[in-house]
Amino acid sequence: MNDKVFSGLAIEAKDLVKRYNEEVLAVDGIDLAIETNTIYSLLGPNGAGKTTTLSMLTTLLEPTAGSARVCGLDVVKQANDVRNCIGVTFQETVLDDALTGRQALDFHGKLYNQNKAKRQAKIKELLALVELEEAADRKIKTYSGGMKRRLELIRGLMTEPEVLFLDEPTLGLDPQSRARLGDYIQDLKENQGLTLLLTTHYMDEAQLLSDKVGIIDHGKIIAEGTPRELIEKMGADVIRIEGQGDSGRFEEKLRSLPFTQQVVAGDSLIQVGVDSGNRRLVEVISAAGDNGFRIEDISVAKPSLGDVFLKYTGRQFRD
Ligand SMILES: Nc1ncnc2c1ncn2[C@@H]1O[C@H](COP(=O)(O)OP(=O)(O)OP(=O)(O)O)[C@@H](O)[C@H]1O
Ligand SMILES: [Mg+2]
Repeated sequence: MNDKVFSGLAIEAKDLVKRYNEEVLAVDGIDLAIETNTIYSLLGPNGAGKTTTLSMLTTLLEPTAGSARVCGLDVVKQANDVRNCIGVTFQETVLDDALTGRQALDFHGKLYNQNKAKRQAKIKELLALVELEEAADRKIKTYSGGMKRRLELIRGLMTEPEVLFLDEPTLGLDPQSRARLGDYIQDLKENQGLTLLLTTHYMDEAQLLSDKVGIIDHGKIIAEGTPRELIEKMGADVIRIEGQGDSGRFEEKLRSLPFTQQVVAGDSLIQVGVDSGNRRLVEVISAAGDNGFRIEDISVAKPSLGDVFLKYTGRQFRD
């Protein structure tokens, strides 16, 4: 029996570690078990270890410790086979400036032995996806940063890989291109059995696109689940409070109330997960008054992944 059937997972990592030098432990023991034909988002702030994790999974960087398999293949011992099964788009572009956009895509297709008809059809479809048709026959060196990003992105999509890795795919895309890309990715998943691991800073995107989300901070996965599961742990509603006074005493009081799921204090914000926001608002306000805290702003909202991030890291997510 081959390993792929055995594990049934498209991406698997066990205690994966990357140390760049004495000081920098970029990835600190990550476990992943990503099922075939699902979309997984790694969500985390700058420097959390997202790109480093992707680099190890895509064979570009050797792990310091631990192991990983992609398409059932070991990323160190079977690196070449792994490369044949995956597509990758990185944050930084690595395009050859002297080529035209079309040539870069065509060259990439040739590398993967796509026939001419297939390459032409794919190039046409992908250029339209990111609105690069008009620039396609210009040299890449004349492209703006955003255009290079879009070209880099669709290059990763040329070859219809089994497993696709996208590092910050929507960085530098306008909202329309982001939405179109989202639809395209969903379509690949539904119709071509694609498995996708992406990283993003955008909460709404991860929430919309992913079957599963892993929140990564300081090289560790600190929370994992479906967007719904992560959000449900927050409580049905989140009450957000800003104000001044004895926040420590107020927070302690909030924690002691029977209807609060969790209480998180960020930089300037207290966030309380409750069973019903509208019903509990009055009780929260009176708890503030009784405990020396003056509310300046208070609101009730459905929890987002941004709230989840704040809960697990104690920090606001920076977009
Ligand atoms: N080549 C390198 N040499 C030394 N340290 C590195 C190197 N590459 C990354 N690092 C460090 O490793 C840590 C993780 O970096 P990484 O690029 O994986 O984070 P990231 O989550 O992708 O961040 P971003 O959101 O900014 O892309 C950071 O502290 C970074 O400074
Ligand atoms: Mg990165």
